[in-house]
Amino acid sequence: MGSQFVSHKVGMGLRPPHYPYLEENPQTDVAWFEAISENYMDSLGRPLELLLKLRKDYPIALHGVSMNIGSTAGIRVDYLEKLRNLIDRVEPFIVSDHICWTGIGTQNMHDLLPLPYTEDSLQQVVDNIDFVQDYLRRPLALENVSTYLSFRHNEMPEWDFVSEVSKRSGCALLLDINNAYVNGMNHGFDPINFLRSIPLDRVAQIHMAGPSDYGRYMFDTHANEIPEEVWSLFTQMAPQISHIPICIERDEDIPDFKTLETEVMKAAYILESSHESQRSTIFV
Ligand SMILES: [Fe+2]
Repeated sequence: MGSQFVSHKVGMGLRPPHYPYLEENPQTDVAWFEAISENYMDSLGRPLELLLKLRKDYPIALHGVSMNIGSTAGIRVDYLEKLRNLIDRVEPFIVSDHICWTGIGTQNMHDLLPLPYTEDSLQQVVDNIDFVQDYLRRPLALENVSTYLSFRHNEMPEWDFVSEVSKRSGCALLLDINNAYVNGMNHGFDPINFLRSIPLDRVAQIHMAGPSDYGRYMFDTHANEIPEEVWSLFTQMAPQISHIPICIERDEDIPDFKTLETEVMKAAYILESSHESQRSTIFV
């Protein structure tokens, strides 16, 4: 790991197309990797073997997509048991999932579906987080998601709901800057106001990604390079988030490792530059 920017802890989502490259080139400019929990919970074969090998060289975060923290029927214990077993083996520095619902009973919709931003829904999420944090015996980090509809009976804006989830449950937040951008475009608010309303002292991790622009709406595909608008939000937030681990995500049209590594280095450079300019302001 030769870069001067690695200290800024910019990581990358670990994706199967990059496994062969990482096996051949275990030393990279990526400071840590985020693994999708479900890809390793049910498969004890080669993917887990590679993850444990990578774990010897890098910190790992575990990121789930089907905890269903908004469920009105509580959290599935069989899911939590498998997650706890994976946590015991990987020893991640962060365990995260999303502020959403993903199914009913044992039916998994394989999507991150929006919750109504009401007191009832907030209490349900907080109760579920209490249960999960007790079961896992560790704090959870929860992420703001992209949405394409909003509920008429919402009682508060998304940023208040997200902040209250963290304040009332004690969980950490995973702040996805791309999702704030997508929602700003889809629901007509300024994403910088969203980001400035989130209590940054509760943010344990940050996501950056590129959505797809369908003209009338933005879709959170993670299929593209991070757009200038999202980099601009990141740059505006940089002075306040330079101590927080950042993760670059790509889930479709995944480029080769080196190409994605340049986005990791760009994020590290922006954080380093904002740190330097802060220092020169202090010492002028
Ligand atoms: Fe994300």
